[in-house]
Amino acid sequence: MEVRARDVIYLDNNATTQVAPEVFEAMVPFLTDLYGNPSSVYTFGSQVAKAVEAARERVAALIRCAPQEVIFTSCGTESDNTAIRSAIQTTGLSHIVTTRVEHSAVIRHCAALEKSGHAVTWLDVGPSGILDPAQVERAIRRDTAIVSVMAANNETGVLFPVEEIADICRARGVLFHTDAVQMPGRARIDLSLCRADFLSLSGHKFHAPKGIGALFVRRGVPFASQCLGGGQEKGRRAGTENTPAIAGLGRAAELAMEDAVEKHARMRRLRDRLETSILALIPGTRVNGDPSRRLPNTSNITFDRIEAESLLLELGRHGICASTGSACVGGSPKPSHVLTAMGLNSPAARGAVRFSLSDLTTEAEIDRTLGALPPLVKKLRAVLPPLP
Ligand SMILES: Cc1ncc(COP(=O)(O)O)c(C=O)c1O
Repeated sequence: MEVRARDVIYLDNNATTQVAPEVFEAMVPFLTDLYGNPSSVYTFGSQVAKAVEAARERVAALIRCAPQEVIFTSCGTESDNTAIRSAIQTTGLSHIVTTRVEHSAVIRHCAALEKSGHAVTWLDVGPSGILDPAQVERAIRRDTAIVSVMAANNETGVLFPVEEIADICRARGVLFHTDAVQMPGRARIDLSLCRADFLSLSGHKFHAPKGIGALFVRRGVPFASQCLGGGQEKGRRAGTENTPAIAGLGRAAELAMEDAVEKHARMRRLRDRLETSILALIPGTRVNGDPSRRLPNTSNITFDRIEAESLLLELGRHGICASTGSACVGGSPKPSHVLTAMGLNSPAARGAVRFSLSDLTTEAEIDRTLGALPPLVKKLRAVLPPLP
């Protein structure tokens, strides 16, 4: 049976977000009347090209860069892959520095490069998920092509010192990429302060549709297109533009900037209420990740003597959507690579649930979640054998 949005409390906004009504409205003309190809010379096409450029300006305003530095891609994964591969090709160097807690879009790509003969330094994080910039400094070698460190972790929300890391890379003459997919709508990105060379975004994490992303490439940074074909995006990313999604991304960027400080503060207040109430109401619970250096919308909590997958299923039956970082491998849940890298043992990592709010989350939704959780945890602890 289909589950409808109005029946759901959606606390999984780091996985994806609802398309904002304003975003949907901005997209509709490009799915109906304005279907011209932006590369066409006649006005019916060139008016769409103008809308693509307007969207580019909005995305550039969100991250404080020049519009020409924004390339539209299909998703965050494509942006991550492109930045790393481009750096390897343009520098001719073969060493990569990254962390053990990146999203799989970076980890799996780097692991594949490692298999094909590239060298990768995998940086560890501390118990609270924090990365010390000095580790990056020590890891850079003469043959380092690129350093790739995320701006905010998708599982814990922990923020990384990307401004300092960018300065280190710049001083050492090494390219720096940051995966900022979890940042828009939750924390400020300012590329006039953070001197990264590449930065990845994904529309569906901030109320734009799925299937649209962006890659910032700083002016003057050598770039090798990874998608060859037509001359779209000034030859940097071939393929006819996804014009409805691009228009939607531009509108979502505008919305993310509107009343940003107030929206972030409200999310933080709701998240903190959810978190402190869970810790107070349910024994054997604790927060994973540095409590202060964190996105305002994310809370990752370990429930002792609980298999998170079971709790998620129970919550789902109550219409509450949350998630775990663990992936199912060969039928058994594998503990999250992020929590494992932070030193959690297997039962603690497998008992971790991520709650991630959006600016659309309401006080009443938090109340309902807090009403449902304690009895569910109690029930599961009563019936489940202790975790191995
Ligand atoms: C930190 C991070 N990077 C990259 C991605 C991949 O983005 P996309 O789903 O647009 O490919 C995600 C999605 O979960 C993410 O959280």
